[in-house]
Amino acid sequence: MAGSARQYHITTFGCQMNKADSERMAGILDTMGLTWTDDPYDADVVLYNTCTIRDNAEQKVYSYLGRQARRKHENPDLTLIVAGCVAQQEGEALLRRVPELDLVMGPQHANRLQDLLEQVFDGNQVVATEEVDIMEDITKPRRDSTITAWVNVIYGCNERCTYCVVPGVRGIEQSRTPEAIRAEMEELGRQGFKEVTLLGQNIDAYGRDLPGSTADGRHQHTFTDLLYFVHDVPGIERIRFATSHPRYFTERLIRACAELPKVCEHFHIPFQSGDNDVLKAMARGYTHEKYRRIIDTVRRYLPDAALSADAIVGFPGETEEQFQRTMDLVNDIAFDQLNTAAYSPRPGTPAALWENQLSEEVKADRLQRLNHLVNTKAAERSQRYAGRTEEVLVEAANPKNPTQVMGRTRGNRLAFFPGDIALLKGELVPVKITEVRPFSLTGEPLRVAAIAG
Ligand code: SAH
Ligand code: SF4
Ligand code: F3S
Repeated sequence: MAGSARQYHITTFGCQMNKADSERMAGILDTMGLTWTDDPYDADVVLYNTCTIRDNAEQKVYSYLGRQARRKHENPDLTLIVAGCVAQQEGEALLRRVPELDLVMGPQHANRLQDLLEQVFDGNQVVATEEVDIMEDITKPRRDSTITAWVNVIYGCNERCTYCVVPGVRGIEQSRTPEAIRAEMEELGRQGFKEVTLLGQNIDAYGRDLPGSTADGRHQHTFTDLLYFVHDVPGIERIRFATSHPRYFTERLIRACAELPKVCEHFHIPFQSGDNDVLKAMARGYTHEKYRRIIDTVRRYLPDAALSADAIVGFPGETEEQFQRTMDLVNDIAFDQLNTAAYSPRPGTPAALWENQLSEEVKADRLQRLNHLVNTKAAERSQRYAGRTEEVLVEAANPKNPTQVMGRTRGNRLAFFPGDIALLKGELVPVKITEVRPFSLTGEPLRVAAIAG
Protein backbone atom coordinates (compact mmCIF):
# COMPACT_ATOMS: atom_id res chain seq x y z
CA MET A 1 0.00 0.00 0.00
CA ALA A 2 2.76 2.44 0.96
CA GLY A 3 4.10 2.18 -2.58
CA SER A 4 6.96 4.34 -3.73
CA ALA A 5 4.90 6.61 -5.98
CA ARG A 6 2.63 7.92 -3.24
CA GLN A 7 2.73 11.65 -2.67
CA TYR A 8 2.11 13.50 0.59
CA HIS A 9 1.29 17.03 1.61
CA ILE A 10 1.42 18.67 5.05
CA THR A 11 -0.37 21.92 5.89
CA THR A 12 0.81 23.47 9.15
CA PHE A 13 -1.10 25.82 11.42
CA GLY A 14 0.00 27.38 14.70
CA CYS A 15 3.28 28.03 16.44
CA GLN A 16 6.95 27.20 15.86
CA MET A 17 6.49 23.99 17.83
CA ASN A 18 4.03 22.78 15.21
CA LYS A 19 6.35 23.84 12.40
CA ALA A 20 9.15 21.82 13.97
CA ASP A 21 6.83 18.81 14.40
CA SER A 22 5.77 19.08 10.74
CA GLU A 23 9.40 19.01 9.61
CA ARG A 24 9.97 15.86 11.65
CA MET A 25 6.82 14.18 10.31
CA ALA A 26 7.82 15.11 6.74
CA GLY A 27 11.21 13.51 7.42
CA ILE A 28 9.45 10.31 8.49
CA LEU A 29 7.27 10.27 5.34
CA ASP A 30 10.37 10.80 3.16
CA THR A 31 12.04 7.85 4.88
CA MET A 32 8.97 5.76 4.17
CA GLY A 33 9.46 6.42 0.46
CA LEU A 34 6.69 8.96 -0.07
CA THR A 35 7.42 12.15 -1.96
CA TRP A 36 6.39 15.72 -1.16
CA THR A 37 3.86 17.59 -3.28
CA ASP A 38 2.92 21.25 -2.85
CA ASP A 39 -0.68 20.59 -3.82
CA PRO A 40 -2.89 19.25 -1.00
CA TYR A 41 -5.58 18.32 -3.53
CA ASP A 42 -3.18 16.16 -5.54
CA ALA A 43 -1.63 14.26 -2.61
CA ASP A 44 -2.40 10.64 -1.65
CA VAL A 45 -1.53 11.28 1.98
CA VAL A 46 -2.74 14.59 3.43
CA LEU A 47 -1.73 15.68 6.91
CA TYR A 48 -3.12 18.74 8.68
CA ASN A 49 -0.96 19.72 11.63
CA THR A 50 -3.43 21.77 13.61
CA CYS A 51 -3.63 24.55 16.19
CA THR A 52 -6.40 25.22 18.71
CA ILE A 53 -5.02 28.25 20.55
CA ARG A 54 -8.01 30.37 19.44
CA ASP A 55 -11.34 29.41 17.93
CA ASN A 56 -10.55 30.82 14.48
CA ALA A 57 -7.44 28.64 14.25
CA GLU A 58 -9.56 25.57 14.97
CA GLN A 59 -12.37 26.48 12.56
CA LYS A 60 -9.92 26.86 9.67
CA VAL A 61 -9.08 23.16 9.90
CA TYR A 62 -12.70 22.06 9.63
CA SER A 63 -13.20 23.90 6.37
CA TYR A 64 -10.10 22.27 4.84
CA LEU A 65 -11.19 18.87 6.15
CA GLY A 66 -14.64 19.20 4.58
CA ARG A 67 -13.09 19.57 1.14
CA GLN A 68 -10.71 16.65 1.61
CA ALA A 69 -13.52 14.43 2.94
CA ARG A 70 -15.47 15.06 -0.27
CA ARG A 71 -12.37 14.24 -2.31
CA LYS A 72 -12.03 10.97 -0.45
CA HIS A 73 -15.44 9.85 -1.69
CA GLU A 74 -14.04 9.85 -5.24
CA ASN A 75 -10.63 8.58 -4.22
CA PRO A 76 -10.94 5.99 -1.42
CA ASP A 77 -7.16 5.45 -1.37
CA LEU A 78 -6.65 8.96 -0.01
CA THR A 79 -5.19 8.86 3.51
CA LEU A 80 -6.40 11.71 5.73
CA ILE A 81 -4.49 12.63 8.89
CA VAL A 82 -5.15 15.25 11.55
CA ALA A 83 -2.15 15.83 13.82
CA GLY A 84 -1.33 18.50 16.38
CA CYS A 85 -3.36 20.32 18.98
CA VAL A 86 -6.91 20.02 17.56
CA ALA A 87 -6.30 16.28 17.23
CA GLN A 88 -5.25 16.09 20.87
CA GLN A 89 -8.15 18.22 22.06
CA GLU A 90 -10.89 16.51 20.08
CA GLY A 91 -9.60 12.92 19.84
CA GLU A 92 -12.40 10.46 19.04
CA ALA A 93 -14.88 13.32 18.65
CA LEU A 94 -13.02 14.31 15.50
CA LEU A 95 -13.82 10.91 13.94
CA ARG A 96 -17.48 11.41 14.64
CA ARG A 97 -17.36 14.81 13.04
CA VAL A 98 -15.25 13.71 10.04
CA PRO A 99 -15.63 9.91 9.66
CA GLU A 100 -13.44 9.99 6.54
CA LEU A 101 -10.36 10.49 8.75
CA ASP A 102 -7.81 7.69 8.93
CA LEU A 103 -5.56 8.94 11.68
CA VAL A 104 -5.94 11.40 14.57
CA MET A 105 -2.66 11.95 16.41
CA GLY A 106 -1.66 14.32 19.21
CA PRO A 107 1.61 16.30 19.18
CA GLN A 108 3.34 13.89 21.54
CA HIS A 109 2.96 11.18 18.88
CA ALA A 110 4.66 13.06 16.03
CA ASN A 111 7.75 10.84 16.19
CA ARG A 112 5.56 7.72 15.91
CA LEU A 113 4.04 8.62 12.55
CA GLN A 114 5.51 5.64 10.69
CA ASP A 115 4.20 3.12 13.18
CA LEU A 116 0.76 4.76 13.21
CA LEU A 117 0.57 4.95 9.41
CA GLU A 118 1.46 1.30 9.07
CA GLN A 119 -1.58 0.50 11.22
CA VAL A 120 -3.65 2.68 8.90
CA PHE A 121 -2.29 0.95 5.79
CA ASP A 122 -3.32 -2.35 7.44
CA GLY A 123 -6.88 -1.08 7.37
CA ASN A 124 -7.32 0.48 10.82
CA GLN A 125 -8.73 3.85 11.79
CA VAL A 126 -6.32 5.07 14.47
CA VAL A 127 -6.53 7.59 17.33
CA ALA A 128 -3.28 8.29 19.21
CA THR A 129 -3.81 10.84 21.94
CA GLU A 130 -2.64 9.19 25.16
CA GLU A 131 0.08 10.91 27.24
CA VAL A 132 3.46 9.41 26.39
CA ASP A 133 7.14 9.87 27.10
CA ILE A 134 8.32 11.57 23.94
CA MET A 135 10.92 9.41 22.24
CA GLU A 136 14.27 10.79 21.19
CA ASP A 137 14.06 11.31 17.48
CA ILE A 138 15.99 9.10 15.13
CA THR A 139 14.55 10.34 11.84
CA LYS A 140 16.08 13.23 9.96
CA PRO A 141 13.60 16.12 9.72
CA ARG A 142 12.81 17.52 6.29
CA ARG A 143 13.68 21.12 7.09
CA ASP A 144 12.13 24.01 5.16
CA SER A 145 15.35 26.01 5.23
CA THR A 146 18.98 24.99 4.71
CA ILE A 147 20.23 27.96 6.74
CA THR A 148 18.07 28.23 9.86
CA ALA A 149 16.67 25.35 11.92
CA TRP A 150 14.38 24.71 14.89
CA VAL A 151 15.67 22.54 17.70
CA ASN A 152 13.24 21.42 20.40
CA VAL A 153 14.62 21.63 23.91
CA ILE A 154 11.52 21.22 26.06
CA TYR A 155 8.07 19.88 25.20
CA GLY A 156 4.85 20.65 27.06
CA CYS A 157 3.92 23.22 29.70
CA ASN A 158 3.39 22.96 33.47
CA GLU A 159 1.75 26.39 33.85
CA ARG A 160 -1.98 26.75 34.19
CA CYS A 161 -2.87 30.10 32.60
CA THR A 162 -6.64 30.22 32.88
CA TYR A 163 -7.24 30.99 29.19
CA CYS A 164 -4.85 28.52 27.61
CA VAL A 165 -5.26 25.10 25.97
CA VAL A 166 -1.55 24.36 25.66
CA PRO A 167 -1.03 22.39 28.92
CA GLY A 168 -4.03 20.24 28.00
CA VAL A 169 -2.85 19.49 24.47
CA ARG A 170 0.94 19.44 24.87
CA GLY A 171 1.11 17.66 28.22
CA ILE A 172 3.62 18.08 31.03
CA GLU A 173 7.12 19.44 30.57
CA GLN A 174 9.63 17.01 29.09
CA SER A 175 13.17 18.29 28.55
CA ARG A 176 15.53 16.69 26.08
CA THR A 177 18.99 15.97 27.45
CA PRO A 178 21.74 18.55 26.85
CA GLU A 179 23.69 15.84 24.99
CA ALA A 180 20.82 15.11 22.55
CA ILE A 181 20.35 18.84 21.88
CA ARG A 182 24.05 19.39 21.31
CA ALA A 183 24.27 16.34 19.03
CA GLU A 184 21.42 17.66 16.88
CA MET A 185 23.10 21.07 16.67
CA GLU A 186 26.45 19.50 15.73
CA GLU A 187 24.77 17.61 12.91
CA LEU A 188 23.15 20.87 11.74
CA GLY A 189 26.52 22.59 11.83
CA ARG A 190 28.04 19.81 9.70
CA GLN A 191 25.20 20.17 7.19
CA GLY A 192 25.91 23.88 6.77
CA PHE A 193 23.11 25.38 8.89
CA LYS A 194 24.10 28.75 10.37
CA GLU A 195 21.33 29.57 12.82
CA VAL A 196 19.41 27.55 15.38
CA THR A 197 16.27 28.56 17.27
CA LEU A 198 15.86 26.59 20.49
CA LEU A 199 12.18 25.92 21.12
CA GLY A 200 9.95 25.44 24.13
CA GLN A 201 6.59 26.79 25.33
CA ASN A 202 8.41 27.98 28.44
CA ILE A 203 11.98 27.63 27.44
CA ASP A 204 13.37 29.06 30.66
CA ALA A 205 11.69 26.18 32.54
CA TYR A 206 14.11 23.85 30.73
CA GLY A 207 15.72 21.09 32.77
CA ARG A 208 13.48 21.04 35.84
CA ASP A 209 12.40 17.50 35.01
CA LEU A 210 15.83 16.07 34.17
CA PRO A 211 17.52 13.58 36.49
CA GLY A 212 20.05 15.35 38.69
CA SER A 213 17.72 18.30 39.17
CA THR A 214 16.81 19.22 42.73
CA ALA A 215 13.28 19.85 43.96
CA ASP A 216 14.19 23.21 45.54
CA GLY A 217 14.80 24.73 42.14
CA ARG A 218 18.62 24.77 42.31
CA HIS A 219 18.74 22.25 39.50
CA GLN A 220 21.90 21.56 37.59
CA HIS A 221 20.35 21.78 34.15
CA THR A 222 18.91 25.24 33.73
CA PHE A 223 18.34 26.81 30.33
CA THR A 224 21.30 29.11 31.06
CA ASP A 225 23.54 26.06 31.57
CA LEU A 226 22.25 24.67 28.29
CA LEU A 227 23.26 27.87 26.45
CA TYR A 228 26.81 27.59 27.80
CA PHE A 229 26.84 23.90 26.88
CA VAL A 230 25.85 24.39 23.22
CA HIS A 231 27.15 27.84 22.27
CA ASP A 232 30.43 26.68 20.74
CA VAL A 233 28.96 24.13 18.31
CA PRO A 234 31.07 24.48 15.14
CA GLY A 235 29.35 26.05 12.13
CA ILE A 236 26.39 27.44 14.08
CA GLU A 237 26.88 31.20 14.04
CA ARG A 238 23.69 32.36 15.69
CA ILE A 239 21.49 31.01 18.47
CA ARG A 240 17.97 32.21 19.23
CA PHE A 241 15.36 30.90 21.63
CA ALA A 242 11.62 31.19 22.31
CA THR A 243 9.37 31.48 24.28
CA SER A 244 10.45 32.99 27.59
CA HIS A 245 8.11 33.16 30.57
CA PRO A 246 8.62 36.17 32.86
CA ARG A 247 8.40 33.92 35.92
CA TYR A 248 11.63 32.14 35.06
CA PHE A 249 13.54 34.80 33.17
CA THR A 250 16.61 35.28 35.38
CA GLU A 251 19.38 37.87 35.46
CA ARG A 252 21.81 34.98 35.06
CA LEU A 253 20.17 34.12 31.73
CA ILE A 254 20.38 37.73 30.57
CA ARG A 255 24.06 37.86 31.57
CA ALA A 256 24.71 34.67 29.61
CA CYS A 257 23.08 36.20 26.54
CA ALA A 258 25.30 39.27 26.90
CA GLU A 259 28.40 37.10 27.36
CA LEU A 260 27.87 34.53 24.62
CA PRO A 261 28.54 36.11 21.22
CA LYS A 262 26.39 33.69 19.20
CA VAL A 263 23.25 34.34 21.23
CA CYS A 264 21.27 37.02 19.38
CA GLU A 265 20.04 40.15 21.15
CA HIS A 266 16.37 39.39 20.76
CA PHE A 267 13.98 38.31 23.48
CA HIS A 268 10.40 37.14 23.12
CA ILE A 269 8.80 37.50 26.53
CA PRO A 270 4.99 37.53 26.49
CA PHE A 271 3.36 39.73 29.15
CA GLN A 272 -0.34 39.19 28.17
CA SER A 273 -1.63 42.16 30.20
CA GLY A 274 -0.31 45.32 31.85
CA ASP A 275 -2.78 45.13 34.73
CA ASN A 276 -2.03 43.24 37.93
CA ASP A 277 -5.60 42.10 38.60
CA VAL A 278 -5.96 40.77 35.07
CA LEU A 279 -2.58 39.04 35.37
CA LYS A 280 -3.81 37.46 38.58
CA ALA A 281 -7.05 36.28 36.97
CA MET A 282 -4.93 34.83 34.16
CA ALA A 283 -2.79 33.05 36.81
CA ARG A 284 0.39 34.32 35.18
CA GLY A 285 2.35 34.44 38.42
CA TYR A 286 3.98 37.89 38.03
CA THR A 287 3.08 41.58 38.23
CA HIS A 288 3.63 44.27 35.62
CA GLU A 289 6.29 45.74 37.94
CA LYS A 290 8.22 42.49 37.82
CA TYR A 291 7.89 42.41 34.04
CA ARG A 292 9.20 45.97 33.76
CA ARG A 293 12.15 45.08 36.01
CA ILE A 294 13.04 42.21 33.67
CA ILE A 295 13.02 44.58 30.70
CA ASP A 296 15.14 47.10 32.63
CA THR A 297 17.67 44.36 33.38
CA VAL A 298 17.74 43.27 29.75
CA ARG A 299 18.39 46.86 28.68
CA ARG A 300 21.08 47.33 31.34
CA TYR A 301 23.09 44.41 29.93
CA LEU A 302 22.05 44.80 26.29
CA PRO A 303 20.82 48.36 25.68
CA ASP A 304 19.99 47.70 22.05
CA ALA A 305 18.25 44.34 22.43
CA ALA A 306 15.13 43.78 20.35
CA LEU A 307 12.05 42.93 22.38
CA SER A 308 8.88 41.18 21.36
CA ALA A 309 5.94 39.77 23.27
CA ASP A 310 2.37 38.47 23.15
CA ALA A 311 -0.65 40.25 24.61
CA ILE A 312 -4.33 39.41 24.98
CA VAL A 313 -7.09 42.04 25.02
CA GLY A 314 -10.63 41.55 26.24
CA PHE A 315 -9.88 38.92 28.87
CA PRO A 316 -13.08 38.22 30.92
CA GLY A 317 -13.84 41.18 33.17
CA GLU A 318 -11.14 43.46 31.68
CA THR A 319 -12.24 47.06 32.23
CA GLU A 320 -11.36 49.99 29.97
CA GLU A 321 -8.98 51.16 32.70
CA GLN A 322 -7.27 47.80 32.89
CA PHE A 323 -6.94 47.74 29.12
CA GLN A 324 -5.31 51.18 29.36
CA ARG A 325 -2.61 49.67 31.58
CA THR A 326 -1.75 47.29 28.73
CA MET A 327 -1.55 50.32 26.42
CA ASP A 328 0.68 52.08 28.99
CA LEU A 329 3.02 49.10 29.17
CA VAL A 330 3.31 48.94 25.38
CA ASN A 331 3.86 52.67 25.24
CA ASP A 332 6.55 52.62 27.95
CA ILE A 333 8.49 49.59 26.75
CA ALA A 334 8.26 50.20 22.99
CA PHE A 335 8.41 46.66 21.64
CA ASP A 336 9.97 45.90 18.30
CA GLN A 337 7.10 43.56 17.66
CA LEU A 338 4.00 42.44 19.54
CA ASN A 339 1.64 39.55 18.73
CA THR A 340 -1.79 40.70 19.80
CA ALA A 341 -5.02 38.73 20.07
CA ALA A 342 -8.56 39.16 21.27
CA TYR A 343 -9.37 36.72 24.05
CA SER A 344 -11.01 33.57 22.70
CA PRO A 345 -12.82 31.25 25.16
CA ARG A 346 -11.40 27.75 24.79
CA PRO A 347 -12.91 24.38 25.72
CA GLY A 348 -11.55 22.90 28.92
CA THR A 349 -10.07 26.17 30.24
CA PRO A 350 -11.33 27.86 33.44
CA ALA A 351 -11.79 31.38 32.04
CA ALA A 352 -14.14 30.11 29.32
CA LEU A 353 -16.71 29.28 32.02
CA TRP A 354 -16.67 32.67 33.73
CA GLU A 355 -19.70 34.86 33.36
CA ASN A 356 -17.90 38.17 32.89
CA GLN A 357 -17.12 37.65 29.19
CA LEU A 358 -16.81 40.80 27.08
CA SER A 359 -18.64 41.41 23.83
CA GLU A 360 -16.92 40.81 20.49
CA GLU A 361 -17.30 44.54 19.71
CA VAL A 362 -15.37 45.60 22.81
CA LYS A 363 -12.64 43.06 22.11
CA ALA A 364 -12.34 44.09 18.45
CA ASP A 365 -12.19 47.77 19.37
CA ARG A 366 -9.43 47.23 21.95
CA LEU A 367 -7.50 45.04 19.57
CA GLN A 368 -7.61 47.73 16.92
CA ARG A 369 -6.44 50.43 19.32
CA LEU A 370 -3.61 48.26 20.61
CA ASN A 371 -2.50 47.31 17.09
CA HIS A 372 -2.38 50.95 16.11
CA LEU A 373 -0.09 51.72 19.05
CA VAL A 374 2.07 48.68 18.26
CA ASN A 375 2.64 49.87 14.69
CA THR A 376 3.52 53.38 15.83
CA LYS A 377 5.99 52.05 18.36
CA ALA A 378 7.55 49.57 15.94
CA ALA A 379 8.04 52.38 13.42
CA GLU A 380 9.78 54.45 16.11
CA ARG A 381 11.96 51.51 17.12
CA SER A 382 12.96 50.91 13.50
CA GLN A 383 14.34 54.45 13.25
CA ARG A 384 17.30 53.51 15.39
CA TYR A 385 18.57 51.29 12.59
CA ALA A 386 18.72 54.09 10.01
CA GLY A 387 22.31 54.61 8.85
CA ARG A 388 23.63 51.81 11.04
CA THR A 389 25.46 48.68 9.93
CA GLU A 390 23.60 45.49 10.79
CA GLU A 391 24.74 41.90 10.32
CA VAL A 392 22.28 40.05 8.06
CA LEU A 393 22.22 36.26 7.66
CA VAL A 394 21.09 35.73 4.07
CA GLU A 395 18.32 33.13 3.80
CA ALA A 396 16.63 33.57 0.42
CA ALA A 397 15.95 35.80 -2.56
CA ASN A 398 13.40 38.55 -1.95
CA PRO A 399 10.26 36.93 -3.43
CA LYS A 400 9.04 40.35 -4.55
CA ASN A 401 12.31 41.46 -6.11
CA PRO A 402 14.78 38.83 -7.38
CA THR A 403 17.61 41.37 -7.61
CA GLN A 404 17.55 41.48 -3.81
CA VAL A 405 18.29 38.93 -1.11
CA MET A 406 16.70 38.80 2.32
CA GLY A 407 17.56 37.66 5.78
CA ARG A 408 17.36 38.70 9.40
CA THR A 409 19.41 40.99 11.59
CA ARG A 410 20.55 39.72 14.98
CA GLY A 411 17.57 41.60 16.43
CA ASN A 412 15.29 39.51 14.18
CA ARG A 413 14.29 42.36 11.82
CA LEU A 414 13.67 41.25 8.26
CA ALA A 415 16.22 42.98 5.99
CA PHE A 416 16.63 43.26 2.20
CA PHE A 417 19.62 44.30 0.12
CA PRO A 418 20.77 44.03 -3.53
CA GLY A 419 22.65 40.81 -4.24
CA ASP A 420 22.75 37.42 -5.88
CA ILE A 421 21.28 34.63 -3.79
CA ALA A 422 23.50 32.02 -5.49
CA LEU A 423 26.56 33.78 -4.05
CA LEU A 424 25.15 35.01 -0.77
CA LYS A 425 22.94 32.26 0.65
CA GLY A 426 24.06 31.43 4.20
CA GLU A 427 26.51 34.36 4.37
CA LEU A 428 26.64 36.82 7.25
CA VAL A 429 26.83 40.19 5.52
CA PRO A 430 27.31 43.63 7.10
CA VAL A 431 24.60 45.84 5.63
CA LYS A 432 24.34 49.62 5.87
CA ILE A 433 20.67 50.37 6.50
CA THR A 434 19.28 53.01 4.15
CA GLU A 435 15.52 52.55 4.50
CA VAL A 436 13.43 51.65 7.53
CA ARG A 437 9.84 50.43 7.76
CA PRO A 438 8.02 49.37 10.97
CA PHE A 439 8.89 45.69 10.66
CA SER A 440 11.60 45.53 7.96
CA LEU A 441 14.73 47.25 6.68
CA THR A 442 16.55 47.78 3.37
CA GLY A 443 20.23 48.51 2.92
CA GLU A 444 23.49 48.24 0.97
CA PRO A 445 25.97 45.42 1.58
CA LEU A 446 29.42 46.53 2.75
CA ARG A 447 31.44 43.46 1.82
CA VAL A 448 30.06 42.22 -1.44
CA ALA A 449 33.35 42.26 -3.37
CA ALA A 450 35.03 40.01 -0.83
CA ILE A 451 32.19 37.49 -1.01
CA ALA A 452 31.89 37.52 -4.78
CA GLY A 453 35.65 37.10 -5.08
N1 SAH B 1 3.96 29.73 26.33
C1 SAH B 1 3.86 31.03 25.84
C2 SAH B 1 2.77 31.27 24.82
C3 SAH B 1 2.03 30.15 24.20
S1 SAH B 1 0.54 30.44 23.34
C4 SAH B 1 3.63 31.97 27.02
O1 SAH B 1 3.25 31.57 28.08
O2 SAH B 1 3.80 33.14 26.87
C5 SAH B 1 0.87 31.85 22.34
C6 SAH B 1 0.04 33.04 22.66
O3 SAH B 1 -1.31 32.84 22.31
C7 SAH B 1 0.00 33.40 24.13
O4 SAH B 1 1.12 34.09 24.52
C8 SAH B 1 -1.27 34.24 24.21
O5 SAH B 1 -0.97 35.60 24.00
C9 SAH B 1 -2.11 33.71 23.07
N2 SAH B 1 -3.27 32.97 23.59
C10 SAH B 1 -3.25 31.81 24.27
N3 SAH B 1 -4.51 31.44 24.60
C11 SAH B 1 -5.34 32.41 24.11
C12 SAH B 1 -6.75 32.60 24.13
N4 SAH B 1 -7.56 31.74 24.74
N5 SAH B 1 -7.25 33.69 23.52
C13 SAH B 1 -6.43 34.58 22.91
N6 SAH B 1 -5.10 34.45 22.87
C14 SAH B 1 -4.54 33.37 23.46
FE1 SF4 C 1 -0.26 28.62 27.82
FE2 SF4 C 1 0.51 29.83 30.00
FE3 SF4 C 1 1.67 27.54 29.27
FE4 SF4 C 1 2.12 29.77 27.90
S1 SF4 C 1 2.67 29.41 30.04
S2 SF4 C 1 1.65 27.78 27.07
S3 SF4 C 1 0.16 30.82 28.00
S4 SF4 C 1 -0.44 27.82 29.93
FE1 F3S D 1 -1.38 26.22 18.57
FE2 F3S D 1 -0.67 24.01 19.72
FE3 F3S D 1 1.14 25.84 19.20
S1 F3S D 1 -2.51 25.13 20.13
S2 F3S D 1 0.00 27.74 19.32
S3 F3S D 1 -0.03 24.72 17.72
S4 F3S D 1 1.06 24.53 20.99
